[in-house]
Amino acid sequence: MAPRNAFPTIRARGLGRRQFLAGVPGLALLPIVPVGRLAAGESRGDGAAEDLPDWVRRAREEVPAATASPYFQTGGIGPSPTPVIEQLADRLTFQNRSPAATHVAEVMNRIEPELRARLARVFGAGEDEVALTHSTSEGISIVAWSLNWEPDDEVVISNTEHPANVIPWYVLRDRLGIAIREIDLSPGTDLVAEVQRQLSDRTRMVSLSHVSRNNGRTLRTGDSARLAELLRARDVRYHLDGAQGPGCVATDFAALGCDCYSTCGHKWLLGPKGTGALFVRRALLDEVQLSWAGAHSHETMDYEGNYTLLPSAARYEFGTRALADFHGFGQAIQWMEDTGFERILGRTDELVEHGIEAIRQTPGLSVASPEDPADRSGILVVRLPEGCDPTKLYRDLAREEGILASPVRGERDFRLSIHFFNTREEISSALEAIVSRCA
Ligand SMILES: Cc1ncc(COP(=O)(O)O)c(C=O)c1O
Repeated sequence: MAPRNAFPTIRARGLGRRQFLAGVPGLALLPIVPVGRLAAGESRGDGAAEDLPDWVRRAREEVPAATASPYFQTGGIGPSPTPVIEQLADRLTFQNRSPAATHVAEVMNRIEPELRARLARVFGAGEDEVALTHSTSEGISIVAWSLNWEPDDEVVISNTEHPANVIPWYVLRDRLGIAIREIDLSPGTDLVAEVQRQLSDRTRMVSLSHVSRNNGRTLRTGDSARLAELLRARDVRYHLDGAQGPGCVATDFAALGCDCYSTCGHKWLLGPKGTGALFVRRALLDEVQLSWAGAHSHETMDYEGNYTLLPSAARYEFGTRALADFHGFGQAIQWMEDTGFERILGRTDELVEHGIEAIRQTPGLSVASPEDPADRSGILVVRLPEGCDPTKLYRDLAREEGILASPVRGERDFRLSIHFFNTREEISSALEAIVSRCA
């Protein structure tokens, strides 16, 4: 194993990068070779120079995108392990042998109940509280349209939401006349006090990100539970947008206390694209009303005008389903469990700590995401020097250095989504490249 500081020269570009990155504990500098210039199949991200634990090395071998380039886009779209995609493809091929054959249908029909049960077990819900969706956005829209909104009713969101948790409220505003209020969820604000300030006798729903895609802030579970209690006492529905939650931070639906939680399989859980879940508290199933329904939502029906809905959250599902994708979603969670959620989250946090430390020691850069371990997540947000355009930076890094990261809403903010399969070296190299391009 090469000692950490034994790397050859870095590509000469920008001034003094080695100086400001030197001395950061464990901060190893890689020779910077734009990934775009590597031969096919060649990778600079095999982590060989870094003393990676075996379980990380094995995981990286199974996730092709993890070694194809420094991959900091899990918060945008997560890469999947090869075995997950193979199992999905096998199941699709199996189904296609004869989709209507009873022995095939029997196997395919087990996929959804098994996935609901797995999601329930891993993320603290009851099996009957899980609906399978195709995205976080689908879950959010189901929740947004579940109330009989009256003009001037109010929803509370925050100043750091993804469009998925903004557009539905704009639509409801324009169609039904609701009002939107906003709280400040910048790092360090008091969640409960912020919401309390915006509550009125017209508030009917609070809908916030569990983890902000823009500033990386995680709502503390205890704070969320306190907020839930307060909202329940006022009969205000509480929804969390958990697109960035499961697989990124510890996530327990019951402990968070919210009424509804929307999430997806295709980010931090490394599942197939177009998979998601909505958790709805059992006691609220009849109050979180359906706006879309169809075959699959009902338990009984006739053609005389009668029907009963499924007694579980599966009532929010309808139509023919992408069962092989859901099989892949289940396999992805299984892969994460086999890898170990606890060590995944632990390593992600260590890497984020490393990134924070490196940014602190880098003149011109600062940390825009929370630094307190209780508030942070795998989303590390770098505040760029004045005049550095995050969108241009994103394009340049992707095209010329093969580093995949993302601009976010803050006009000088740049996001590194750090998952456990990333390495310290990748983070250090990305920061070097950022500084160099912003110089
Ligand atoms: C906080 C947040 N909510 C919702 C979404 C949309 O997720 P999906 O594509 O699963 O609908 C994203 C995607 O980046 C997100 O970051």
